[in-house]
Amino acid sequence: MLDSDRLRNPALFDKIVSPEKAQELIQDGMNVGFSGFTPSGYPKKTTLALADAIRNGKKCRIAVWTGASVGPEIEQALAEVNGIASRAPYYAASNKALRKGINDGTVRYVDAHLSHFGPQVDFGFLGNVDVAVVEAAAITEDGGLILGSGVGNTPIFVKHAKKIIVEVNTSIPLSLEGMHDIYLCNKPPYRREIPIYHAADRVGSPYVKCGIDRIDAIVESDIPDHVRTLTPPDEDSRKIARNLVDFLKNEQKHGRIPEQMLPIQSGVGSIANAVLGGLKESDLENLSMYSEILQDSVFDLIKMGKVTAASGCAFTPSPRVWDMYRKEPELYKKALVLRPLDVSNNPGVIRRLGVIALNTPIEFDIYGQANSTHIMGDNMMNGIGGSGDYMRNGYLTFFCTPSTAKDGKISKVVPMVTHADHTEHDTMVFITEQGVADLRGLSPVERARCIIRNCAHPDYRGQLTEYLERSMLTGGHEPVDLAHCFDMELHFRKYGTMKLDEQ
Ligand code: COA
Repeated sequence: MLDSDRLRNPALFDKIVSPEKAQELIQDGMNVGFSGFTPSGYPKKTTLALADAIRNGKKCRIAVWTGASVGPEIEQALAEVNGIASRAPYYAASNKALRKGINDGTVRYVDAHLSHFGPQVDFGFLGNVDVAVVEAAAITEDGGLILGSGVGNTPIFVKHAKKIIVEVNTSIPLSLEGMHDIYLCNKPPYRREIPIYHAADRVGSPYVKCGIDRIDAIVESDIPDHVRTLTPPDEDSRKIARNLVDFLKNEQKHGRIPEQMLPIQSGVGSIANAVLGGLKESDLENLSMYSEILQDSVFDLIKMGKVTAASGCAFTPSPRVWDMYRKEPELYKKALVLRPLDVSNNPGVIRRLGVIALNTPIEFDIYGQANSTHIMGDNMMNGIGGSGDYMRNGYLTFFCTPSTAKDGKISKVVPMVTHADHTEHDTMVFITEQGVADLRGLSPVERARCIIRNCAHPDYRGQLTEYLERSMLTGGHEPVDLAHCFDMELHFRKYGTMKLDEQ
């Protein structure tokens, strides 16, 4: 039941409506901006009611704009009733109905660097924000929104929205108040530097400024976020983490990283979480994070006292980690800062702080190009997310992944990536369980030899070397054998003709 802790101005109570009533504000063809980021802090009740209305005959297909992936109450529920006309700037493969729509072309999908999308909405490049639907923990006396655990693009959507629906969710702990740092960048030519000089610097307000008059409807909710379960670390991810820690310490020893470790960014998914978790076993101390997403391992590292400051635009705790948070909110609040996406992923801040970036590719090629998004070139898995923001601008950047997928049947090191998200100009170091390929300062053929020797699985090294030698026969600065670089044999040595759907 909503009370005065959640709605801090009596006028707000008059705006409470049912989800069925709130969904009426969303009409066919609208652009709708939703709060939330990687199943965290996204609204649920209004879209479930909208999906029901569509099922019962309402004609409505909308553009779904978010920070990143959101939960099944939006993506799955609306995709199942064909309610999503287009989607931006990110989606995650776990939403199968949406994945199908994107891959069969019935949903228009715009994959974007996450730091680009908010500003493009702000500049008006993509059209109006017709409705913003925001999940909040509470609304302040003057109509400020206290968000949940994901900020994403909410401040920009709220700034531009013609109509605003706020879902106040009583399952969000009120202790989150004060964790957010909401800063809106001015548009050029009035844009200034974002004055963040250390990962934990606060430069904005704890609330998203909205105002009571701009809120059209308030919906009560108690549905918790539908957080994805991460696969626990295995022996390969432990080896990758050990390789990473040894490499970082060697860089420190040679003075290429200062003694006080630079802030770390860690990407999305099980592998990224496991690799970061490997720092628990290292003797690295007093670490900070300047990241987009903060997954479970960050909380373990804060609890151990190894991470003292962690900035992100969302955290996505598993139920285990939510329990840890609820037991000691002050411990985690001391370390955590949640920012808007265009601040967490801002290239200027990433370069200034000298962020060490750790991300996961789907595959990478012998010349150092990486594919983060597409299986065999055409079938979209996940969006590029913030990986480009960090890999292009980080001080020292790492792509970390096991050397094979699908129980060794697929090599993650290939002659040429089937889809290029990160070109050879944007990558530095690749790490697999086999070893480390440090590509800094290497020419193309040197890079190829380094990657094959250090990162490829032994089962595939012979074929990759053969391919390289054959390509070199025709010469060229970056030798390529165009007739064979996408041979199924080379990409899927043991995979044979298995259909993509089975992957
Ligand atoms: N060919 C075919 N399938 C592959 C593959 C390849 N080369 N590489 C990975 N996969 C499959 C895995 O088998 C797995 O399939 P499953 O779900 O059916 O088991 C799936 O892709 C996910 O891989 P997984 O091993 O579980 O890794 P993950 O959870 O760590 O996710 C990415 C890896 C690449 C999908 C994830 O890191 C991602 O979305 N990256 C792009 C966005 C990004 O980097 N964001 C960073 C934000 S700052």
